[in-house]
Amino acid sequence: MDRLLIHNIGQLVTPLGRSARRGQEQGKLQKLQHAWVLLEGECIAQVGEGDPPPAPGAARLDAGGRLATPGLVDAHTHLIFGGWRQNELALKLHGVPYLDILAQGGGILSTVQATRAASQQQLEEKAARALDEMFSFGTTTCEAKSGYGLSTQEECKQLRAIRALDERYPVDLVSTFLGAHALPQEYRDRRGEYLRLLCEEMIPAVAAEGLAEFCDVFCETGVFTAEESREILLCGRRHGLRPKIHADEIDPIGGSQLAGEVGAISAEHLIVCPPQGISSMARAGTVACLLPATSFYLGASFAPARQMIDAGVPVAMATDFNPGSCPCLNLQLVMNLGCLKYRLTPEEVLTAVTLNGAAAIGRAQTVGSLEPGKLGDLVLWEAADLEYLCYRLGSNLVHTVIKRGRPHMYGGPKGPGRENVWQN
Ligand code: NIG
Ligand code: FE
Repeated sequence: MDRLLIHNIGQLVTPLGRSARRGQEQGKLQKLQHAWVLLEGECIAQVGEGDPPPAPGAARLDAGGRLATPGLVDAHTHLIFGGWRQNELALKLHGVPYLDILAQGGGILSTVQATRAASQQQLEEKAARALDEMFSFGTTTCEAKSGYGLSTQEECKQLRAIRALDERYPVDLVSTFLGAHALPQEYRDRRGEYLRLLCEEMIPAVAAEGLAEFCDVFCETGVFTAEESREILLCGRRHGLRPKIHADEIDPIGGSQLAGEVGAISAEHLIVCPPQGISSMARAGTVACLLPATSFYLGASFAPARQMIDAGVPVAMATDFNPGSCPCLNLQLVMNLGCLKYRLTPEEVLTAVTLNGAAAIGRAQTVGSLEPGKLGDLVLWEAADLEYLCYRLGSNLVHTVIKRGRPHMYGGPKGPGRENVWQN
């Protein structure tokens, strides 16, 4: 078995555990100085402080005093889509609201057209470029949703693209069925029929082919009501797909309360989450997956992250990468926003993009922290400590991404005298 000793880590920072951290626990991290990590095959064998063990036969990687954290987990993305929507920028600048663009057949529905027009292979190639970029920013595990097909065949095409990419690509992908992302144009006057299609054909087909682990719904004014969302999520649950929900993004129509009621693994957005939604999620142990780059991009307010932590709701943060409300795949930027807009501490933020992100997609047993037995997914940063990582804005601070025990170099000295800029 291949062994790799990563030594001379200036600071190693990680949450600990195999489930989501909530309340004060969210801000408690293990911080080791002068640390090392021994990887065996794809997994972490040992983590320690001070002089590394002899490890005969192991390859050695000198971290050069850099910061090490777990690989980042992006727990909410719409990775697979055709086209882009830069035309919406002008509409936004003229003040046209996001839901109005959708109601006029644009927004998500224009991406549906472009996605249907693309082959599975074309979708894979486009998403592979996004994955390259995500990986270079430190993301090692990523959730990916369907939701731009809106027919059985087209949703399955998106989900098969996710599966194929997962097999051939270093980033591990986790797939979510989001057939209830919008009402397709051809069903505009036949809402009930689309709901029947979702429950009687699409969900059974997705489950039978093992194409997704989770079932998600866009519960929003003008999209799907809380009652419709309940019906879809319960149907998904009967077919073995765990519920997730886009809730309280623009209007609080009961999505976060429903999340707790149906035992959703996570509820996403929660920009305008009411107190009853917070208590419902706290009771059920639902992870709040917050998407601050979307708030920024929509010019909206920011989710009440502090109230959630105080109420014992575990908070994760993700990019929401998609061609409309958030064409951003950089989790480092999300970390900045977590500090500056949610006013979370760097420690709480790191947990949100590692262990709690993993918990939001059912992966807390295997990733999200640096401890023996977990996958060897970690990032070496051009940073001396976690504060620096959260403080710098707009640069990619990744030096090396190690995925399943294999190092992929990105940064490194940028020329004579330019080594370790963060140390000066
Ligand atoms: O999470 N809100 C619904 N879905 C995405 C946006 C999708 C789109 O605009 O294409 C979101 O923001
Ligand atoms: Fe989303």
